[in-house]
Amino acid sequence: MSSKEELIKRLNTAMAWELAGVIQYMQAAVMVTGHARETFYDFFHESSEEARDHAELVGQKIAVLGGVPTVEPATIRQAADIDGMLEAALELEKDALKAWEDAHAVADAANPGTVFWIEEHVAEEQEHVDHLRKLTQKVKFASSDIKKASNKSG
Ligand SMILES: [Fe+2]
Ligand SMILES: [Fe+2]
Repeated sequence: MSSKEELIKRLNTAMAWELAGVIQYMQAAVMVTGHARETFYDFFHESSEEARDHAELVGQKIAVLGGVPTVEPATIRQAADIDGMLEAALELEKDALKAWEDAHAVADAANPGTVFWIEEHVAEEQEHVDHLRKLTQKVKFASSDIKKASNKSG
């Protein structure tokens, strides 16, 4: 397999995760109920639309490199409650980030503009992972690092 074919293959894996995102986030948007609906409907709806845009953009790139963009989504994780939906979203974004990082590792097979474009996408997916790690409270702070509020008025 040429290095360009390997890049196309890896971009297609990234595309499959974006397609999975379109469907997974759409299901979460229509299924989120209770108080969480007020807070998270927009987030899931917009995340689905963003994944659709990313899927089309990576499809455009695959096509211009001479590859056939995939029509098969990667694994779609389903959940019925908000905590499960957010955990599923984090797992999805971690898989998507890994796919984009893998494409970046062989991006040299393309032109410099494509390398830069993939790099920007890695940064964007990392932001999604970071945001979902906070939403799912995966980030832990040492209580000793938090400065105690001083009571100046007392
Ligand atoms: Fe994406
Ligand atoms: Fe993402």
